[in-house]
Amino acid sequence: MQITINNKSIEVQNGETIIETARRMGYSIPSLCYAKDAQHKSSCMVCAVKNDANGQIIPSCTTLPTEGMQIDTESDEIKQIRALSLELLLSDHRADCEAPCHLVCPVSLDIELMLSYYDKKEFEKAHAVIAAAFSLPEIACDTCKAPCEKACRRGRIDKAVAIRTIIKEIAEMFIGKTTNDFGIKVEKTDKNAFQSRLSSFTTEEKKRLEETVVVPSLCLHCACTGRKGCMLRQYATEAGIKRSRYEASSKLPIMTKQHVNGNIYFEQAKCIRCGLCVYNTKNGFTFKDRGFGMEVVLPEESRENIGKEVVELCPTGAIYLNNMYI
Ligand code: SF4
Ligand code: SF4
Ligand code: SF4
Ligand code: FES
Repeated sequence: MQITINNKSIEVQNGETIIETARRMGYSIPSLCYAKDAQHKSSCMVCAVKNDANGQIIPSCTTLPTEGMQIDTESDEIKQIRALSLELLLSDHRADCEAPCHLVCPVSLDIELMLSYYDKKEFEKAHAVIAAAFSLPEIACDTCKAPCEKACRRGRIDKAVAIRTIIKEIAEMFIGKTTNDFGIKVEKTDKNAFQSRLSSFTTEEKKRLEETVVVPSLCLHCACTGRKGCMLRQYATEAGIKRSRYEASSKLPIMTKQHVNGNIYFEQAKCIRCGLCVYNTKNGFTFKDRGFGMEVVLPEESRENIGKEVVELCPTGAIYLNNMYI
């Protein structure tokens, strides 16, 4: 059977969907709730394409080609439809991609990473992170007005993390000594990439965070640990989305980093309910409730059934490998 994709004729292979045909031709179509060779159901619509033969907008990940289709994957119209789907997904997607303290630091110090070592009393490593941003750690922050402390999310609960004081404390421990770099790589952050920045906490969240986050620094470790492999963020950045127009009404829980097993973690607030983890694990993730209140949950007794392959399947930072924090 022949169809056209972006005005080019192509012979369709047996059983392949439109996204597979288009990708075989070299066209790039975003997808979130679809993964090749995995069980999936259309839900996100970021893979939308238009059939110019009848004007229909269809999900390319589940639609099988039919004779005479004239598929458009590249027009501005279809890109806008995909951007709208992304914005709707992001409208109840809570939590930061990057920690706000890190984003506003003039020397891009990875404050959260430094604090995670500080909280584990690994001071040499904490010093190595500081030394990666300041050539003279002993005078670090001396002339800075500490925008990091103003941006600190902990400040919206009780009081901001005393970032500058902690940096000074660590720097003083190593005056006159050299710190090996411990192979710590501090990567440059793309400040233009999409930020799902959260602006407020509910009263219950404040209470819970105040009670549960009691590490020495008081840091909430705001950044999304799974951000490196996050396709949602990548597509939102490519589509030029800064923040969703539809933001605000979310009731999703935040800071719910659930240990799964090994170094696999699950953070429900980052889940877009695509279902890939549900359809592709046996006695593992499951849907709870229906409609707007639907959630993906992992019952305690199912944690041991989860393997690393689910981390690869999850298109967001909801299921991730965590080597940094306890
Ligand atoms: S709580 Fe920690 S990670 Fe979050 S903004 Fe404050 S210092 Fe940064
Ligand atoms: S899951 Fe992706 S979009 Fe969401 S906070 Fe993490 S990196 Fe950002
Ligand atoms: S946790 Fe599951 S349902 Fe949620 S985004 Fe990841 S794969 Fe999809
Ligand atoms: S990837 Fe096709 S509907 Fe989500």
